[in-house]
Amino acid sequence: MTSQGLQATAKAMVAKGKGILAMDESNPTCGRRFKKPGIENTIENRRAWRELLLTTPRLADYISGAILYDETIRQATSDGIPFPQYMGQCGIIPGIKVDTGAKDLTGFPGEKVTEGLDGLRERLAEYKGMGARFAKWRAVITIGKGIPTRACIHANAHALARYAALCQEAGIVPIVEPEVLIDGDHTIDRCYEVSSDTLRAVFAEIEEQRVLLEGMVLKPSMVISGLDCPQQARVKEVAEKTVECLLKNLPENLAGVAFLSGGQSNELATAHLNAMNTMYRGLPWPLTFSYARALQQPALEGWRGEKANVTAAQKRLYHRAKLNGAASLGQYSEAMEREAP
Ligand code: 13P
Repeated sequence: MTSQGLQATAKAMVAKGKGILAMDESNPTCGRRFKKPGIENTIENRRAWRELLLTTPRLADYISGAILYDETIRQATSDGIPFPQYMGQCGIIPGIKVDTGAKDLTGFPGEKVTEGLDGLRERLAEYKGMGARFAKWRAVITIGKGIPTRACIHANAHALARYAALCQEAGIVPIVEPEVLIDGDHTIDRCYEVSSDTLRAVFAEIEEQRVLLEGMVLKPSMVISGLDCPQQARVKEVAEKTVECLLKNLPENLAGVAFLSGGQSNELATAHLNAMNTMYRGLPWPLTFSYARALQQPALEGWRGEKANVTAAQKRLYHRAKLNGAASLGQYSEAMEREAP
């Protein structure tokens, strides 16, 4: 694909009023999500859940693309239409998670490095053949006593950049996801510091590996208080510190920014995105969402693995997508939460 092709796809992923549905949970993660509503973690239940999500009527009103898992991209609707093909018919761009997970970083207790570069060129070619037009790689940075180390940030940033370059070679738009975890009792200022160090390192490597900025999307975490921090920053402060951190570290010609929700409540993930888009106009890049939990949760709880609940669950997903679509335009209000899904 030409660089124009990559740019066009990246632009479409962050199109006005739309965001990305992350539904690329690995099988063990899917099992953890299924546990609470009491759904058995079987291959058929995972397929049925993904079918429910993708066949939500008019999902493309607010969802530009969806990220699939290796198992999911090979699955099909109950009518036998392969998921990527079905998505194409609905106007939803198929994406694929290509990292093979965050593993312990040798010599650095408590820190992780994401693996998956070996054989990636070949896997990308296969996914491209199946219809994938963008990919995702998630790096994990943990805040704790004495961590993250520079070594951890650097190892992850380097891998993200190598992955991004390989994606673009294959004509696939990379989503570059350096997630600073919300877990811990750290303050928002500590999160700012770590997020800033991480983004700076990521973009230094991205530049060094000659990645086309206009043909990639950044998926960062928000700058936020740790879950166990006694002083929880308000929505306005999260919006200010997050945008400040992005302005300090991101190149202007990046195609777009699509945040992860990272364990925030559904409502807060929406309110934070909305505040950023209300308070800051004319930023160099669109700010939107690429949420998994904050989009899927209400629908999953409504479904509980029962066929009879599919329509009600789809309405819940559509509603969350609509609210986040509004937040990406700075047009969300809390009153919208009370609208019937
Ligand atoms: P959450 O929105 O649940 O953080 O997931 C986003 C994602 O894709 C993580 O890689």
